[in-house]
Amino acid sequence: MTKKVKFMETILRDAHQSLIATRMSTEEMLPILKTLDEAGYESLEVWGGATFDASLRYLNEDPWERLRAIRKEVKNTKLQMLLRGQNLLGYKHYADDVVEAFIEKALANGIDTIRVFDALNDIRNLETAIKSIRKFGGHCQAAICYTTSEVHTVSYYVNLVKEMEELGAQSICIKDMAGILTPNNAYELIKALKDITALPIEVHTHATSGISEMTYLKSVEAGADIIDTAISPFAGGTSQPSTESMSIALEGIGYETGLNIEKLKEIADYFRPIKDKYLQNEVLNPKVLATEPNTLLYQVPGGMLSNLLSQMKEAHAEDKYEEVLREVPRVRADLGYPPLVTPMSQMVGTQAFMNVLNGERYKMIPKEIKDYVKGSYGQSPVPIAEEIRHKIIGEEKTLSGRPADLIKPEMEKYREELGDLAESTEDVLMYALFPQLAETYLKKRKDPFYDIPVQTVAVTM
Ligand code: CO
Repeated sequence: MTKKVKFMETILRDAHQSLIATRMSTEEMLPILKTLDEAGYESLEVWGGATFDASLRYLNEDPWERLRAIRKEVKNTKLQMLLRGQNLLGYKHYADDVVEAFIEKALANGIDTIRVFDALNDIRNLETAIKSIRKFGGHCQAAICYTTSEVHTVSYYVNLVKEMEELGAQSICIKDMAGILTPNNAYELIKALKDITALPIEVHTHATSGISEMTYLKSVEAGADIIDTAISPFAGGTSQPSTESMSIALEGIGYETGLNIEKLKEIADYFRPIKDKYLQNEVLNPKVLATEPNTLLYQVPGGMLSNLLSQMKEAHAEDKYEEVLREVPRVRADLGYPPLVTPMSQMVGTQAFMNVLNGERYKMIPKEIKDYVKGSYGQSPVPIAEEIRHKIIGEEKTLSGRPADLIKPEMEKYREELGDLAESTEDVLMYALFPQLAETYLKKRKDPFYDIPVQTVAVTM
């Protein structure tokens, strides 16, 4: 029996998000879509929070329009998106009716597979999304946010995956957004998951720490069904490993990838000058292509390391950098071991920084940390100790239910606020997710000159 492994191509989402701050325009994607469709990928990742945001913020593009344009050209390959559970594409909780409407429209406009995750791995924050994806006929891929800590053991993830499957997940993703998944840990985790579930397993990592190809090899040996890669001009560094290289290596040891190397070459040839353009205009900083093993040493994502360093420079406290890095795991343990992903990574980093700078722990506490301890983001992976909880929120009550249970339906409110600027439910959803950006975009669509100030002409005598 031939061994098989499938590929998801990230060039249209994660690869350009990781390397060029999501600046690739629809116009730059269109000419190569047919070839991408013919190359033999399992799916193309095309949408997520940053692509939606950047389309409106920097490109004056309607993100829904991009999705429809891609769908028009890509007729055979699945289109995939990334969704933050109850937060949809942002960082706040939305009412269930908004989550449901967004998922319905994402699928109706061309998405096949929705990869859904929660930054705290709180399953309650995935419930509505998973149910809606199933209701509207999409493929539901539930992702575990991969992190390491004394509580994030193989059995922790095994239990999580069992719950995801019960809720309706149709495939599982191990989402290693920080590039800290090592080859041996990947092997052990996937073997354990394969013992308890028949669902396909997809692995997502970043090349940041220099071990990603080995991690994929061990993942595939353990039975992973799909891996996420980026076409070579936009591969490596903080992006994914190269599609062509992984494919050639895996074919060489007997795996069938279904990929057509000639088409991959064509795709790489197409994107090479685009990469050069972004190098020349300095949107692509060569630093993000470097290897950063510190992320493995400190178990802290690369982005968080650089954020902390710039925060410390601003406070003229660079000499305390090592001390803050040692404080990070302590704060994280106090807070019940949240995964270090946005927004938790910034919150934990800021608290560690304040603890060290003030010479006293929890003398100053950001509002976000208080909200988190109250339970507004969801449940921490393990309960927070009574003493710490008291130190942070005193006698204030904590939430025990699902955070979104407290939010009343919101679609009507958004629809009313937007008034006649909205021509469709898609417009209303755009506004629900990014209010200011959507309003500006929709006003410009109605009147291209609306934000151009009336010229004051100097009268010369
Ligand atoms: Co990623």
